[in-house]
Amino acid sequence: MPDLSGKVAIITGCASGIGAATVRRFVADGAQVLGTDVNEANGAALCAEAGALFAVQDVSDRSLWPQIVARAVEAFGRLDILVNNAGMVSGAGIGDLDDKAMFAAWDQVLAVNLTGTMAGCRAAIAAMRANPGGSAGAIVNIASTTAMAPLPTDVGYSASKGAVRVLSKSVATWCAQHKLDIRCNTVIPGATQTGILEAAEQQAPGLIAAVAKTSPLNRLADPAETAAAIAFLASDECPFMTGAEMVVDGAMMAIHPGF
Ligand SMILES: NC(=O)c1ccc[n+]([C@@H]2O[C@H](COP(=O)([O-])OP(=O)(O)OC[C@H]3O[C@@H](n4cnc5c(N)ncnc54)[C@H](O)[C@@H]3O)[C@@H](O)[C@H]2O)c1
Repeated sequence: MPDLSGKVAIITGCASGIGAATVRRFVADGAQVLGTDVNEANGAALCAEAGALFAVQDVSDRSLWPQIVARAVEAFGRLDILVNNAGMVSGAGIGDLDDKAMFAAWDQVLAVNLTGTMAGCRAAIAAMRANPGGSAGAIVNIASTTAMAPLPTDVGYSASKGAVRVLSKSVATWCAQHKLDIRCNTVIPGATQTGILEAAEQQAPGLIAAVAKTSPLNRLADPAETAAAIAFLASDECPFMTGAEMVVDGAMMAIHPGF
């Protein structure tokens, strides 16, 4: 089990699914956690039950990011880990909506999934550079198997997650070249039993049953299984892993689609 004792972490999208499982896992592994979410009621309840602090945050509001990071530093004295987990689907393929609705959906999903992740990396790096004892930290960004094999039913979600993969590598290599001792990696979940999949099911009925079958394990992931990979990448267990990605998909992307 990765040891996160003494680590200070911010986890976005903590009210539900993978974020909630990651808060529980990090606290169990010894971290001090600030969870954030737009959903105040569920986020505050989850964090109170898990033993974490909570702050309301819309990750797409970039002006809020420095305040969120400052909150963690004020409470715990430093920032070691950021998990950019908050995300949403937009539920539209390229020709599915009229221009007004299409561009509104596109702008929103890019703002949350991509710009929110970039703004989080930027604010976290500033705090990690100022850590007592010197620059250090680990960022874990959450992409999706749609970054590798996109959904025709959701162009904005797929494009945003593809961009998150590349964003992580750019952040990782910039930090390495600037000798910051800050790592940045991506977790690529497959179909996981959470609210976002239920939202996608509303747009494309039958999706959950279909994606469960695409894993040779023939099931969805439990969010705790994804949180385990996030904890490993956030910990000191893997100091030579940066600019890398860990696929947690029950081998969905490892098998020829014909089998
Ligand atoms: N569940 C899956 O099958 C799956 C697969 C691949 C990737 N992912 C990714 O995992 C991450 C977590 O999603 P999940 O599956 O746990 O879904 P979820 O819907 O259960 O949780 C997402 C959380 O993000 C929060 N959120 C949404 N927009 C936000 C915003 N603007 N600011 C702050 N918080 C916001 C929601 O309130 C919610 O609590 C997402 O980035 C998602 O794209 C999920």
